[in-house]
Amino acid sequence: MAKINLKNLKVEAKKGIEKADNLKDLDEIFRKYLGKKGKITLIFNSLKKLPLNKRKKLGREANLVKIGLEKLIREKTQKFKEEIRAESLGKEKIDITRPGKKVKIGHLHPLTLVQREVEEIFQSMGFSVITGPEVETEWYNFDALNIPKDHPARDMWDTFWLKVEADQRARLPSPESKASGGQGYQRGLTQKFLLRTHTSPVQIRYMEKHQPPLRIIVPGRCFRHEATDASHEIQFYQLEGLVVDKNISAANFRAIIEEFLKRFLKTDIEIRLRPSFFPFTEPSFEIDVRRKKGKWVEMMGAGMVHPNVFKAAGLIPNAPAGGWQGFAFGAGLDRLAMLKYKINDIRLFYSGDLRFLKQF
Ligand code: DAH
Repeated sequence: MAKINLKNLKVEAKKGIEKADNLKDLDEIFRKYLGKKGKITLIFNSLKKLPLNKRKKLGREANLVKIGLEKLIREKTQKFKEEIRAESLGKEKIDITRPGKKVKIGHLHPLTLVQREVEEIFQSMGFSVITGPEVETEWYNFDALNIPKDHPARDMWDTFWLKVEADQRARLPSPESKASGGQGYQRGLTQKFLLRTHTSPVQIRYMEKHQPPLRIIVPGRCFRHEATDASHEIQFYQLEGLVVDKNISAANFRAIIEEFLKRFLKTDIEIRLRPSFFPFTEPSFEIDVRRKKGKWVEMMGAGMVHPNVFKAAGLIPNAPAGGWQGFAFGAGLDRLAMLKYKINDIRLFYSGDLRFLKQF
């Protein structure tokens, strides 16, 4: 009875394997005959109830059937797997001639790009790039630049004054030290701190520590306490310039600035100097620039360094008498960027608006 059963099972299982269309069918057949509760497994389980001689015989036969079926299932499984693989390989063919996907990465802010370009141009003309602190003392930002206290000229710079708490004051440089604008305190000025309103204080800081001849530019962030509009922000970037030597004239300044603007704007430009007033220069002028036949745009302030500025930095003015002379200028980096890229609102630089930033 068991023998017939085994034969029938073998035939039945073989047919099933032949008919199987896919891996799932094969899996079902495996379970039906060889799984934990499979028909052949059950035969093995029933062996122990049989007398020894029958047990041996049936056991051997059942084992042969088991091995045979396993082999058939394995072979067919392999065949199906190969077919599936071949099919997906055909579908997934990689076309190496197709253009790659563009990887999105960030890029530099337009103001950083402009700053770097400006630095390169000036460096090629022999200037060093210098930086200074954004938190300044009243001395460096105003007094040393010949802008006396309570003088109307000081109103040109709307200032963010800083409140210094007692515990912070203890960590600041002592009033006598040069780093805190010592000369100002020796002259009885109080130690007041502010956010620098321009980059001009770095002129003083640099001249205190370096003997002329010198040529520097100072890019940096400045702050003014004023209402914002398309051309004014409470924070903005300036580019200060200072050249000191024995024989420096306004004509030298004009040549350098014209050369810079030509290279920066990559086009033919014209500049004009208009008389102006700054406490730290004498004479002072305003520089306008225009592209061929374009509108004049106010670009920067400049002038010959005032003798009081040299004195505040510990240098002797007046070149004809053996001292120093030089010129200085201060331009808005934002303005330069706006002119170059034809941007009409300074606030865009600080908006973080990706629609704007992605254009650079
Ligand atoms: N510091 C001036 C300002 O912020 C700009 C300026 C004008 C700088 C004339 C200079 C200069 O060095 O000579 O308005």
